[in-house]
Amino acid sequence: MSEPSDPPRLLRLTCPPTLGPYVEEEVRSLGFDPESTDRTGVEIRGTMADAMMLNLRLRTALHVLQRFADVRARDAEAMYEGAVRLPWERVIASDGYVSVTSTVSNDTITNSMFPNVRLKDAIVDRINSVAGRRPDSGPRSDRAVVHMYWNDDRCRIYLDTSGRKLSDRGYRRIPTRAPMRESLAAAVLMETGYDASQPLVIPMCGSGTIAIEAALIATGRVPGLLRGNFGFMHLLTFDETAWGQARLAAKKLRHARPCPPIIATDIDQEAVEASRRNAITAGVEHLIDFRVCDFADTPLPDQPGIILLHGEYGQRLGGDELAGTYRRMGDFFKQSCPGWGGFVFTSRDWATSVGLRASRRVPFMNADIDCRLLRYELYEGKGVS
Ligand SMILES: C[S@@+](CC[C@H](N)C(=O)[O-])C[C@H]1O[C@@H](n2cnc3c(N)ncnc32)[C@H](O)[C@@H]1O
Repeated sequence: MSEPSDPPRLLRLTCPPTLGPYVEEEVRSLGFDPESTDRTGVEIRGTMADAMMLNLRLRTALHVLQRFADVRARDAEAMYEGAVRLPWERVIASDGYVSVTSTVSNDTITNSMFPNVRLKDAIVDRINSVAGRRPDSGPRSDRAVVHMYWNDDRCRIYLDTSGRKLSDRGYRRIPTRAPMRESLAAAVLMETGYDASQPLVIPMCGSGTIAIEAALIATGRVPGLLRGNFGFMHLLTFDETAWGQARLAAKKLRHARPCPPIIATDIDQEAVEASRRNAITAGVEHLIDFRVCDFADTPLPDQPGIILLHGEYGQRLGGDELAGTYRRMGDFFKQSCPGWGGFVFTSRDWATSVGLRASRRVPFMNADIDCRLLRYELYEGKGVS
């Protein structure tokens, strides 16, 4: 029997540290049964058509990697020898372009770029020997991308079907100070329980990432439809018909059901303007009520919902001023938000500064900063739990 044209293979869905469980939840809701989950990824079996669908739909992952081969290699020369025997000509065009990324933990490697260079050499040498021409190579992540995960003598080589990070949705053209990566914003919303059945209020909205991610969720817009370039498009195995079907299925998830209000405010007029423009790019500006004001003056809808403040961490700010801001967040929750689910996202260092007892403290990494999502139960009439 001949091999099916798109057989299931191991797919590794990578994510920033701490987001593994959220990727797993997303993947399960899409009908997959993960083989494993760790801090930085989830492994499933799936076809390239599945990989396309996951690239379109996953909100919390960074890359969808498809296993290409495993190589046993003690050092870079052994890795080259193993990799040059692989059938690269089946996946990368001789007149194409390839870049190599890697995560390496091998004590013979002292220069982190060297494994990438040797794997790139193996790929282009193999294609040259078969096709008489070598593809170009370099650092661009918007063409074919190969990723290597090398631990001791075990080297797993993947095709990166995403290319650029999936968190680069393409809508955040105007960043402001300390923005939150889109995948983290989506995971934080999942952790709050946001499901678009309740109002959402985001004071301190910065560049608007959390509000925009919420509006995408609320209207069934999948993030991958916002961008037109993925790594799989630059592989010889790219099936344009299957891609068209995946896009069509993703478009059908979009709906126009009215959703409860999403309100985003910031004290900085430029931040609010940037948020509004980013929301326009994402196609959700009409769903978000933007205002310039102090967080404590944010208008709250009558029906309680979720209120989430992403405060500054103060590396470069005066400590006293920021301490006052965090204390005011606690006062605001107590006085103005009874009945609401109150959340503060901040660094671990500032996590005790709100002055209220948190009912949950969920760890997240924001880039390399150890952070917490703090949950406060703001009971009606009785104050805080
Ligand atoms: C860490 S940033 C939020 C980043 C945002 N989540 C994003 O992804 O872009 C904190 C924001 O709080 C705003 N801010 C600081 N003090 C404020 C106050 N008293 N009232 C309202 N916003 C304030 C800042 O202007 C800044 O945009």
